[in-house]
Amino acid sequence: MNKIIIFDTTLRDGEQVPGCKLNTKEKIELALDLERLGVDVIEAGFPISSPGDFASVNEISKSITNATVCALSRAVEKDIQVAGEALKYARRPRIHTGIGTSDLHIKSKFNSTREEILQRAIQCVKWAGNFTDNIEFYAEDAGRTDNDYLAKVIEAVIKAGATTVNIPDTTGYCLPHQYGEKIAYLINHVPNIDKAVISCHCHNDLGLATANSIAGIIHGARQIECTINGLGERAGNTSLEEVVMIIKQHKDLNFSTNIDATQLNPMSRKVSDVMRMPVQPNKAIVGSNAFSHSSGIHQDGFLKNAETYEIINPVEVGADDSKIVLTARSGRSALAHRFKKLGYDFTRNDVDVLYNWFLQVADSKKEIEDSDLNTLAKNYTKKNFVTT
Ligand code: KIV
Ligand code: ZN
Repeated sequence: MNKIIIFDTTLRDGEQVPGCKLNTKEKIELALDLERLGVDVIEAGFPISSPGDFASVNEISKSITNATVCALSRAVEKDIQVAGEALKYARRPRIHTGIGTSDLHIKSKFNSTREEILQRAIQCVKWAGNFTDNIEFYAEDAGRTDNDYLAKVIEAVIKAGATTVNIPDTTGYCLPHQYGEKIAYLINHVPNIDKAVISCHCHNDLGLATANSIAGIIHGARQIECTINGLGERAGNTSLEEVVMIIKQHKDLNFSTNIDATQLNPMSRKVSDVMRMPVQPNKAIVGSNAFSHSSGIHQDGFLKNAETYEIINPVEVGADDSKIVLTARSGRSALAHRFKKLGYDFTRNDVDVLYNWFLQVADSKKEIEDSDLNTLAKNYTKKNFVTT
Protein backbone atom coordinates (compact mmCIF):
# COMPACT_ATOMS: atom_id res chain seq x y z
CA MET A 1 0.00 0.00 0.00
CA ASN A 2 1.23 3.50 -0.78
CA LYS A 3 0.80 5.77 2.22
CA ILE A 4 -0.80 9.11 1.40
CA ILE A 5 0.27 11.94 3.69
CA ILE A 6 -2.76 13.87 4.87
CA PHE A 7 -1.91 17.57 5.19
CA ASP A 8 -4.78 19.37 6.86
CA THR A 9 -5.15 23.09 6.18
CA THR A 10 -8.47 23.72 7.99
CA LEU A 11 -6.66 26.09 10.35
CA ARG A 12 -5.05 28.07 7.50
CA ASP A 13 -6.86 27.87 4.11
CA GLY A 14 -10.10 26.87 5.88
CA GLU A 15 -9.84 29.66 8.38
CA GLN A 16 -9.45 32.24 5.58
CA VAL A 17 -13.20 31.84 4.88
CA PRO A 18 -15.11 34.97 5.96
CA GLY A 19 -16.79 34.26 9.30
CA CYS A 20 -14.59 31.24 10.12
CA LYS A 21 -11.84 33.10 11.98
CA LEU A 22 -10.67 31.30 15.11
CA ASN A 23 -8.97 32.54 18.26
CA THR A 24 -5.87 30.84 19.65
CA LYS A 25 -7.79 28.70 22.15
CA GLU A 26 -10.12 27.39 19.43
CA LYS A 27 -7.18 26.73 17.11
CA ILE A 28 -5.30 24.72 19.73
CA GLU A 29 -8.41 22.67 20.50
CA LEU A 30 -8.99 21.86 16.82
CA ALA A 31 -5.29 21.12 16.26
CA LEU A 32 -5.40 18.53 19.07
CA ASP A 33 -8.55 17.03 17.53
CA LEU A 34 -6.84 16.88 14.12
CA GLU A 35 -3.89 15.08 15.66
CA ARG A 36 -6.26 12.55 17.30
CA LEU A 37 -7.99 12.11 13.95
CA GLY A 38 -4.62 11.01 12.53
CA VAL A 39 -3.59 13.81 10.19
CA ASP A 40 0.13 13.80 9.38
CA VAL A 41 0.66 17.53 8.88
CA ILE A 42 -1.31 20.37 10.47
CA GLU A 43 -0.98 23.70 8.68
CA ALA A 44 -1.48 25.86 11.75
CA GLY A 45 -1.56 29.32 10.18
CA PHE A 46 0.21 32.20 8.46
CA PRO A 47 2.27 33.75 11.27
CA ILE A 48 3.21 37.04 9.56
CA SER A 49 -0.47 37.78 8.88
CA SER A 50 -1.31 38.89 12.46
CA PRO A 51 0.05 38.73 16.02
CA GLY A 52 -2.92 36.48 16.85
CA ASP A 53 -1.99 33.98 14.16
CA PHE A 54 1.66 34.06 15.24
CA ALA A 55 0.51 33.20 18.79
CA SER A 56 -1.72 30.40 17.47
CA VAL A 57 1.09 28.75 15.49
CA ASN A 58 3.41 29.17 18.48
CA GLU A 59 0.97 27.59 20.95
CA ILE A 60 -0.01 24.78 18.57
CA SER A 61 3.70 24.01 18.16
CA LYS A 62 3.95 23.50 21.92
CA SER A 63 0.81 21.34 22.15
CA ILE A 64 1.24 18.93 19.24
CA THR A 65 3.35 15.85 19.83
CA ASN A 66 3.23 13.60 16.76
CA ALA A 67 1.99 15.52 13.77
CA THR A 68 4.19 17.90 11.80
CA VAL A 69 3.23 21.53 12.43
CA CYS A 70 3.45 23.73 9.36
CA ALA A 71 3.43 27.51 8.94
CA LEU A 72 2.74 29.39 5.71
CA SER A 73 4.82 32.23 4.34
CA ARG A 74 5.27 34.14 1.11
CA ALA A 75 8.64 34.17 -0.67
CA VAL A 76 9.64 37.07 1.54
CA GLU A 77 12.56 36.90 4.00
CA LYS A 78 10.66 38.53 6.88
CA ASP A 79 7.67 36.16 6.41
CA ILE A 80 9.97 33.16 6.57
CA GLN A 81 11.80 34.45 9.66
CA VAL A 82 8.51 35.00 11.46
CA ALA A 83 7.26 31.54 10.41
CA GLY A 84 10.52 30.03 11.70
CA GLU A 85 10.14 31.84 15.05
CA ALA A 86 6.49 30.83 15.41
CA LEU A 87 7.52 27.19 14.92
CA LYS A 88 10.36 27.40 17.45
CA TYR A 89 8.80 24.89 19.87
CA ALA A 90 7.44 22.45 17.30
CA ARG A 91 8.81 18.91 17.56
CA ARG A 92 8.41 18.52 13.81
CA PRO A 93 8.32 21.97 12.19
CA ARG A 94 7.70 22.60 8.50
CA ILE A 95 7.91 25.90 6.64
CA HIS A 96 5.58 26.20 3.66
CA THR A 97 6.82 28.91 1.33
CA GLY A 98 6.39 29.74 -2.31
CA ILE A 99 5.34 32.07 -5.08
CA GLY A 100 3.00 32.30 -8.08
CA THR A 101 4.43 30.63 -11.18
CA SER A 102 1.74 31.09 -13.86
CA ASP A 103 2.40 33.83 -16.43
CA LEU A 104 -0.72 35.57 -15.16
CA HIS A 105 0.68 35.73 -11.62
CA ILE A 106 4.18 36.59 -12.81
CA LYS A 107 2.97 39.55 -14.89
CA SER A 108 -0.11 40.78 -13.03
CA LYS A 109 0.89 40.16 -9.42
CA PHE A 110 4.64 40.63 -9.54
CA ASN A 111 5.23 42.59 -12.77
CA SER A 112 8.18 40.26 -13.15
CA THR A 113 9.68 37.65 -15.46
CA ARG A 114 9.92 33.85 -15.36
CA GLU A 115 13.67 34.06 -14.68
CA GLU A 116 13.25 36.47 -11.73
CA ILE A 117 10.51 34.32 -10.20
CA LEU A 118 12.70 31.23 -10.57
CA GLN A 119 15.44 33.00 -8.58
CA ARG A 120 12.97 34.13 -5.89
CA ALA A 121 11.68 30.56 -5.59
CA ILE A 122 15.22 29.26 -5.02
CA GLN A 123 15.96 32.08 -2.57
CA CYS A 124 12.87 31.51 -0.40
CA VAL A 125 13.70 27.82 0.00
CA LYS A 126 17.25 28.76 1.04
CA TRP A 127 15.91 31.22 3.65
CA ALA A 128 13.60 28.54 5.02
CA GLY A 129 16.61 26.25 5.30
CA ASN A 130 17.96 28.52 8.06
CA PHE A 131 15.13 27.26 10.30
CA THR A 132 14.35 23.69 9.31
CA ASP A 133 15.15 20.89 6.89
CA ASN A 134 11.46 20.23 6.42
CA ILE A 135 10.61 22.70 3.65
CA GLU A 136 7.55 22.67 1.44
CA PHE A 137 7.55 24.85 -1.65
CA TYR A 138 4.26 25.89 -3.31
CA ALA A 139 4.07 26.97 -6.93
CA GLU A 140 0.93 29.06 -6.65
CA ASP A 141 -1.44 28.70 -9.64
CA ALA A 142 0.51 25.65 -10.80
CA GLY A 143 -2.78 24.49 -12.34
CA ARG A 144 -2.40 27.24 -14.98
CA THR A 145 1.41 27.22 -15.12
CA ASP A 146 3.19 26.07 -18.27
CA ASN A 147 4.43 22.53 -17.49
CA ASP A 148 7.89 23.05 -18.91
CA TYR A 149 8.53 26.15 -16.76
CA LEU A 150 6.92 24.48 -13.72
CA ALA A 151 9.31 21.54 -14.11
CA LYS A 152 12.28 23.96 -14.14
CA VAL A 153 11.08 25.67 -10.96
CA ILE A 154 10.43 22.38 -9.19
CA GLU A 155 13.84 20.99 -10.12
CA ALA A 156 15.53 24.16 -8.84
CA VAL A 157 13.66 24.31 -5.50
CA ILE A 158 14.37 20.64 -4.78
CA LYS A 159 18.05 21.35 -5.49
CA ALA A 160 17.80 24.29 -3.04
CA GLY A 161 16.42 22.02 -0.29
CA ALA A 162 12.64 21.63 -0.70
CA THR A 163 11.51 18.22 0.57
CA THR A 164 7.86 18.58 -0.46
CA VAL A 165 6.72 20.30 -3.65
CA ASN A 166 3.16 21.55 -3.65
CA ILE A 167 1.40 21.83 -7.03
CA PRO A 168 -1.68 23.93 -6.22
CA ASP A 169 -4.60 24.22 -8.57
CA THR A 170 -5.20 27.54 -6.83
CA THR A 171 -8.22 28.54 -8.93
CA GLY A 172 -9.77 25.08 -9.26
CA TYR A 173 -9.37 25.33 -13.04
CA CYS A 174 -7.99 21.92 -14.04
CA LEU A 175 -9.94 18.90 -15.16
CA PRO A 176 -8.91 15.68 -13.38
CA HIS A 177 -7.06 14.28 -16.41
CA GLN A 178 -5.18 17.58 -16.86
CA TYR A 179 -4.16 17.74 -13.21
CA GLY A 180 -3.10 14.08 -13.26
CA GLU A 181 -1.07 14.68 -16.44
CA LYS A 182 0.64 17.66 -14.79
CA ILE A 183 1.82 15.45 -11.92
CA ALA A 184 2.93 12.75 -14.38
CA TYR A 185 4.79 15.42 -16.40
CA LEU A 186 6.74 16.48 -13.31
CA ILE A 187 7.59 12.89 -12.46
CA ASN A 188 8.88 12.35 -16.00
CA HIS A 189 10.68 15.68 -16.51
CA VAL A 190 12.16 16.68 -13.14
CA PRO A 191 15.39 14.69 -12.77
CA ASN A 192 15.58 15.03 -8.95
CA ILE A 193 11.85 14.49 -8.28
CA ASP A 194 12.64 11.33 -6.25
CA LYS A 195 14.14 13.64 -3.56
CA ALA A 196 10.78 15.25 -2.75
CA VAL A 197 7.16 14.37 -2.07
CA ILE A 198 4.68 15.82 -4.55
CA SER A 199 1.65 17.41 -2.92
CA CYS A 200 -1.83 18.15 -4.33
CA HIS A 201 -3.55 21.34 -3.17
CA CYS A 202 -6.78 21.63 -5.14
CA HIS A 203 -9.55 24.22 -4.93
CA ASN A 204 -13.17 23.50 -5.66
CA ASP A 205 -14.26 26.32 -7.98
CA LEU A 206 -15.63 23.80 -10.49
CA GLY A 207 -16.49 21.14 -7.92
CA LEU A 208 -13.44 19.08 -8.95
CA ALA A 209 -11.10 19.47 -5.98
CA THR A 210 -11.50 15.91 -4.71
CA ALA A 211 -11.41 14.35 -8.20
CA ASN A 212 -8.27 16.34 -9.03
CA SER A 213 -6.51 15.31 -5.81
CA ILE A 214 -7.29 11.66 -6.48
CA ALA A 215 -6.03 12.03 -10.07
CA GLY A 216 -2.88 13.57 -8.55
CA ILE A 217 -2.11 10.59 -6.33
CA ILE A 218 -2.95 8.11 -9.08
CA HIS A 219 -0.23 9.82 -11.14
CA GLY A 220 2.38 9.81 -8.38
CA ALA A 221 1.70 12.55 -5.81
CA ARG A 222 1.92 11.29 -2.22
CA GLN A 223 0.44 14.14 -0.17
CA ILE A 224 -3.05 15.63 -0.28
CA GLU A 225 -3.82 19.05 1.22
CA CYS A 226 -7.38 19.16 2.42
CA THR A 227 -9.78 20.58 5.00
CA ILE A 228 -12.58 19.30 7.17
CA ASN A 229 -15.92 19.87 5.41
CA GLY A 230 -13.98 21.14 2.36
CA LEU A 231 -13.68 24.62 3.87
CA GLY A 232 -11.34 27.08 2.16
CA GLU A 233 -11.05 30.13 -0.05
CA ARG A 234 -14.09 30.74 -2.29
CA ALA A 235 -15.65 27.35 -3.11
CA GLY A 236 -13.23 25.66 -0.73
CA ASN A 237 -10.50 23.03 -0.79
CA THR A 238 -10.51 19.28 -1.23
CA SER A 239 -12.47 17.80 1.65
CA LEU A 240 -10.53 15.51 3.95
CA GLU A 241 -13.43 13.17 4.61
CA GLU A 242 -13.97 12.61 0.88
CA VAL A 243 -10.37 11.68 0.01
CA VAL A 244 -10.02 9.49 3.08
CA MET A 245 -13.16 7.51 2.24
CA ILE A 246 -12.34 7.25 -1.48
CA ILE A 247 -9.00 5.74 -0.51
CA LYS A 248 -10.69 3.43 2.00
CA GLN A 249 -13.50 2.31 -0.33
CA HIS A 250 -11.29 1.80 -3.40
CA LYS A 251 -8.80 -0.76 -2.14
CA ASP A 252 -7.93 -1.31 -5.82
CA LEU A 253 -6.10 2.04 -5.76
CA ASN A 254 -3.66 0.54 -3.23
CA PHE A 255 -3.44 3.67 -1.05
CA SER A 256 -3.78 4.09 2.69
CA THR A 257 -3.95 6.96 5.20
CA ASN A 258 -3.50 7.20 8.97
CA ILE A 259 -6.95 8.70 9.49
CA ASP A 260 -9.36 7.11 11.98
CA ALA A 261 -12.52 7.28 9.85
CA THR A 262 -14.85 6.78 12.84
CA GLN A 263 -13.94 10.31 13.94
CA LEU A 264 -14.94 11.93 10.63
CA ASN A 265 -18.52 12.86 11.54
CA PRO A 266 -17.78 14.07 15.10
CA MET A 267 -14.87 16.13 13.69
CA SER A 268 -17.05 17.61 10.95
CA ARG A 269 -19.68 18.67 13.52
CA LYS A 270 -17.01 20.13 15.79
CA VAL A 271 -15.46 22.23 13.00
CA SER A 272 -18.88 23.32 11.82
CA ASP A 273 -19.83 24.42 15.36
CA VAL A 274 -16.57 26.15 16.24
CA MET A 275 -16.34 27.92 12.86
CA ARG A 276 -20.08 28.58 12.79
CA MET A 277 -20.24 27.24 9.24
CA PRO A 278 -23.11 24.82 8.52
CA VAL A 279 -22.49 21.71 6.44
CA GLN A 280 -24.76 21.31 3.41
CA PRO A 281 -27.17 18.40 4.07
CA ASN A 282 -26.20 16.53 0.89
CA LYS A 283 -22.44 16.76 1.61
CA ALA A 284 -20.73 13.40 1.03
CA ILE A 285 -19.82 11.44 4.19
CA VAL A 286 -20.74 14.14 6.73
CA GLY A 287 -23.98 15.77 5.47
CA SER A 288 -27.15 15.11 7.46
CA ASN A 289 -28.68 13.37 4.42
CA ALA A 290 -25.59 11.28 3.59
CA PHE A 291 -27.26 8.19 5.07
CA SER A 292 -30.96 9.06 4.58
CA HIS A 293 -33.23 7.20 2.20
CA SER A 294 -36.48 8.80 1.11
CA SER A 295 -37.73 7.38 -2.18
CA GLY A 296 -39.90 4.26 -2.09
CA ILE A 297 -37.68 2.32 -4.53
CA HIS A 298 -34.54 3.01 -2.48
CA GLN A 299 -36.22 2.35 0.87
CA ASP A 300 -37.54 -1.01 -0.29
CA GLY A 301 -34.06 -2.08 -1.50
CA PHE A 302 -32.32 -0.68 1.56
CA LEU A 303 -34.65 -2.54 3.95
CA LYS A 304 -33.94 -5.81 2.12
CA ASN A 305 -30.17 -5.25 2.09
CA ALA A 306 -28.55 -1.95 3.12
CA GLU A 307 -25.76 -2.42 0.58
CA THR A 308 -28.22 -1.94 -2.29
CA TYR A 309 -28.17 1.80 -1.64
CA GLU A 310 -25.27 2.41 0.75
CA ILE A 311 -21.60 1.96 -0.12
CA ILE A 312 -20.47 3.04 3.36
CA ASN A 313 -21.78 1.79 6.68
CA PRO A 314 -22.48 4.97 8.72
CA VAL A 315 -20.81 3.37 11.75
CA GLU A 316 -17.53 3.34 9.79
CA VAL A 317 -17.50 7.14 9.59
CA GLY A 318 -18.99 7.85 13.02
CA ALA A 319 -22.38 8.94 11.64
CA ASP A 320 -25.79 8.28 13.20
CA ASP A 321 -27.68 5.23 11.93
CA SER A 322 -29.08 5.33 8.41
CA LYS A 323 -32.44 7.05 8.27
CA ILE A 324 -35.61 6.11 6.46
CA VAL A 325 -37.31 9.43 5.88
CA LEU A 326 -41.03 9.32 5.19
CA THR A 327 -42.24 11.69 2.47
CA ALA A 328 -44.86 11.53 -0.27
CA ARG A 329 -42.21 9.68 -2.34
CA SER A 330 -41.94 6.82 0.19
CA GLY A 331 -43.42 3.39 -0.31
CA ARG A 332 -45.35 0.77 1.65
CA SER A 333 -42.24 -1.10 2.88
CA ALA A 334 -40.88 2.00 4.57
CA LEU A 335 -44.26 2.79 6.12
CA ALA A 336 -44.68 -0.78 7.42
CA HIS A 337 -41.11 -0.69 8.76
CA ARG A 338 -41.68 2.56 10.64
CA PHE A 339 -45.01 1.38 12.12
CA LYS A 340 -43.24 -1.75 13.33
CA LYS A 341 -40.50 0.34 14.92
CA LEU A 342 -43.20 2.34 16.69
CA GLY A 343 -44.69 -0.89 18.09
CA TYR A 344 -47.65 -1.43 15.75
CA ASP A 345 -48.22 -4.87 14.31
CA PHE A 346 -50.28 -4.14 11.20
CA THR A 347 -51.06 -6.71 8.54
CA ARG A 348 -50.33 -6.14 4.86
CA ASN A 349 -53.98 -5.17 4.29
CA ASP A 350 -53.87 -2.69 7.16
CA VAL A 351 -50.76 -1.11 5.65
CA ASP A 352 -52.47 -0.86 2.24
CA VAL A 353 -55.28 1.19 3.74
CA LEU A 354 -52.99 3.20 5.97
CA TYR A 355 -50.72 3.94 3.00
CA ASN A 356 -53.53 5.80 1.20
CA TRP A 357 -54.18 7.87 4.31
CA PHE A 358 -50.46 8.42 4.71
CA LEU A 359 -50.15 9.76 1.13
CA GLN A 360 -52.88 12.32 1.76
CA VAL A 361 -51.05 13.66 4.79
CA ALA A 362 -47.62 13.36 3.10
CA ASP A 363 -48.76 15.41 0.10
CA SER A 364 -49.51 18.30 2.43
CA LYS A 365 -46.25 18.07 4.44
CA LYS A 366 -42.53 17.92 3.64
CA GLU A 367 -41.80 15.06 6.02
CA ILE A 368 -43.95 12.74 8.09
CA GLU A 369 -43.03 12.56 11.76
CA ASP A 370 -43.66 9.73 14.22
CA SER A 371 -46.41 11.85 15.80
CA ASP A 372 -48.27 11.91 12.44
CA LEU A 373 -48.00 8.12 12.24
CA ASN A 374 -49.29 7.70 15.78
CA THR A 375 -52.33 9.81 14.90
CA LEU A 376 -52.91 7.77 11.73
CA ALA A 377 -52.58 4.52 13.64
CA LYS A 378 -54.92 5.67 16.41
CA ASN A 379 -57.63 6.76 13.96
CA TYR A 380 -57.24 3.56 11.99
CA THR A 381 -57.47 1.23 14.99
CA LYS A 382 -60.51 3.11 16.30
CA LYS A 383 -62.26 2.85 12.95
CA ASN A 384 -61.37 -0.77 12.28
CA PHE A 385 -61.26 -2.20 15.79
CA VAL A 386 -57.75 -3.40 15.19
CA THR A 387 -55.85 -4.37 18.32
CA THR A 388 -52.18 -3.63 18.04
O1 KIV B 1 -4.32 27.82 -3.10
C1 KIV B 1 -3.09 28.04 -2.97
O2 KIV B 1 -2.35 28.14 -3.94
C2 KIV B 1 -2.60 28.17 -1.62
C3 KIV B 1 -1.11 28.26 -1.46
C4 KIV B 1 -0.75 29.32 -0.49
C5 KIV B 1 -0.58 26.91 -1.07
O3 KIV B 1 -3.34 28.13 -0.68
ZN1 ZN C 1 -5.27 27.24 -1.23
